[in-house]
Amino acid sequence: MPDWLLYTGSRRPHDGIDRLPPPPPWRDFDGGPVLPPSDGESGNRHQATTYRPSDDAVQQVNAALYLRRPLLVTGPPGTGKSTLAYAVAHELGLGPVLHWPITSRTTLRDGLYQYDPLTRLYAARDGDAPATDEDIGRYIRLGPLGTALLPYARPRVLLVDEIDKSDIDLPNDLLTVFEKGEYEIPELTRRADPSAEVMTADGAGARVTVTAGTVRCNAFPLVVMTSNGEREFPPAFLRRCVTVELHQPADKAELSAIVREHLGELADQSEDLVSRFFERSASGTLATDQLLNAVYLCRHAGAGDREALADRIMRRLAGPIDDD
Ligand SMILES: Nc1ncnc2c1ncn2[C@@H]1O[C@H](COP(=O)(O)OP(=O)(O)O)[C@@H](O)[C@H]1O
Ligand SMILES: [Mg+2]
Repeated sequence: MPDWLLYTGSRRPHDGIDRLPPPPPWRDFDGGPVLPPSDGESGNRHQATTYRPSDDAVQQVNAALYLRRPLLVTGPPGTGKSTLAYAVAHELGLGPVLHWPITSRTTLRDGLYQYDPLTRLYAARDGDAPATDEDIGRYIRLGPLGTALLPYARPRVLLVDEIDKSDIDLPNDLLTVFEKGEYEIPELTRRADPSAEVMTADGAGARVTVTAGTVRCNAFPLVVMTSNGEREFPPAFLRRCVTVELHQPADKAELSAIVREHLGELADQSEDLVSRFFERSASGTLATDQLLNAVYLCRHAGAGDREALADRIMRRLAGPIDDD
């Protein structure tokens, strides 16, 4: 294993992130006051601890970490694009993954923060909470992107999931924020005292002080943007990202290893299913989790039902109609 690799794909947590060198001068961010590393589990524990990344994925994750650039992960459904983010957060101890699922209606603002002035008004009217100028932070909640850009001492992991589903403007809007490594909260900068303790995407009780109405990162987050390839991205966008394409496992041995990683002993005697999956996937899209479901179910089903069950679960997601 080359020693420049911090993330290795070993699935075992370690402190390799401490060896991350200072950023290249053009990606050096100086936000503060610096927040301590975020602890806690990455989330999706089973997926995070069973993921077997390709060599290419390992390399490109490290390139993104070193270069402080977003990582664009493309590939067919079920090839492990989303899981990669959880696996990296788990191995490098980067805390909970900030998950931002994208739809056609998602805007940049949704990812940065939400301001809820109505709750503030009601609180003032009902008199149950003093809506003084000091507590505006109670009505501002940072989103996953807004939280990832807080000045943490260590990179947070931000999963911008299925960015190809977005409105046409979102990718470029996002890149502008990633270039600057900061954003402003105008509801705060407009005030005489532009500092406030706001809520974050880390859930209940998590509060952070934003000074001068601006959030600027310190350790640039590891941004994992996934795409099922439903859209081409403009060259200017690609130029600013590190990219990696994921594929289905290239051979039966790797598929079997993935099944064993997930199912342990339940994976015994699953060679025939692995072979069938492999042959079928040659002529159309199948996702790895279809194989995992088939192996699990066939271990529990009666011998008479296994063939039919496996057949149904391992239907192609795209490609020729299944009539075999
Ligand atoms: N290389 C791999 N190693 C282990 N499990 C994998 C791998 N690729 C995919 N999987 C499993 O397949 C399922 C689908 O992965 P997911 O990350 O949701 O795919 P995608 O985001 O590309 O659609 C998950 O349960 C994941 O654990
Ligand atoms: Mg996904």
